[in-house]
Amino acid sequence: MNILFIGDIIGKPGRDVVAAELRRLRGHLKLDLVIANGENAAGGFGLTRAISEEFFGIGIDVISTGNHWADQKEILTYIESEDRVLRPANYPRGTPGRGANLYQTPAGSVLVVNVMGRVFMDALDDPFAAVERELSACPLGEGADAIVVDVHAEATSEKMAMGHFCDGRASLVVGSHQHVPTADAQILPGGTAFQCDAGACADYDSVIGMDKAEPLQRFTRKMSSQRFAPATGPATLCGVFVQTGAKGLAARIEPVRVGGRLSRALPEL
Ligand SMILES: [Fe+2]
Ligand SMILES: [Fe+2]
Repeated sequence: MNILFIGDIIGKPGRDVVAAELRRLRGHLKLDLVIANGENAAGGFGLTRAISEEFFGIGIDVISTGNHWADQKEILTYIESEDRVLRPANYPRGTPGRGANLYQTPAGSVLVVNVMGRVFMDALDDPFAAVERELSACPLGEGADAIVVDVHAEATSEKMAMGHFCDGRASLVVGSHQHVPTADAQILPGGTAFQCDAGACADYDSVIGMDKAEPLQRFTRKMSSQRFAPATGPATLCGVFVQTGAKGLAARIEPVRVGGRLSRALPEL
C-alpha cells in the first residue's frame, strides 16, 4: 500500500497548498490512503466541521490532531459523529471522539493511531500505554493490513522512543507538532518506517508557520502585543510517503516537500 502522511496544516496558506497539490500527488504516488494532521487548520488553532469537510473533498481520508484539537469548540460534537477525525488517544476517559480507528481502502485496511507526547507538553495519560492498547487490539497483519501512528510531540527523544516501541508492529510512526520536517526518515531494524517530524503545510518565512513579527516581539521583549496568526505567503506541503510490503511493514519511506520556500522532495515510484 502507498500511504501519505501530511504534517500539520496551518491556516489558509496550508489548506491552499494541500488543495493545489494533493490531487496530483495522489496520482503520482498512487496513494491508497492520505492522512493529514489538521490541528492548526482553522486560523492556526483547531479544526472545524467545514474545514474537515473541505479536506475530505480534496482527497484527505483521515484527519489526525494534537494539543490544539479542541481549540474550536464545535469539534467537540462533530468528532462524536465523524470517525475520520481523530484526537490523541491518551486523553482521559470520557473525552469526546476517538484516538484510533480502522479504515478500509480498496488496497486493504489501515489502523491509524493518534497519540500525544508528554515531554515539554501538558500532562496527559501515558502515550506508550495508549499505543500498546491500540496495537494489541488490532495487530499488524491480523487486525490491519497497515498501521500508522501519528505521535504528536515536542521532544525528538520521545518520538524516537515511540518509533522503537512500535518497531515491527506498525508500518509507519511519524511525528507531528514541531512544524519543521526532520531529515531522519528511515526504516527501523524491525521494519517500521520512522521520521521524527513530518513538518507542516505552512509558509516557512515564519516562526513555525506563524507570522514572524509577534513571535520575535515575544522572544526579544518578553511582551505580547497581538494573537499569533498564520504567515500568509506561499506554503510548502510537507509530508512523509510510506510504501508497505511484506506483513504490512515498510518497504520504503520518503520525505515529501512541494511548493513554497523549502527545497523540493518528491519521490519517484
Ligand atoms: Fe501543530
Ligand atoms: Fe501541536
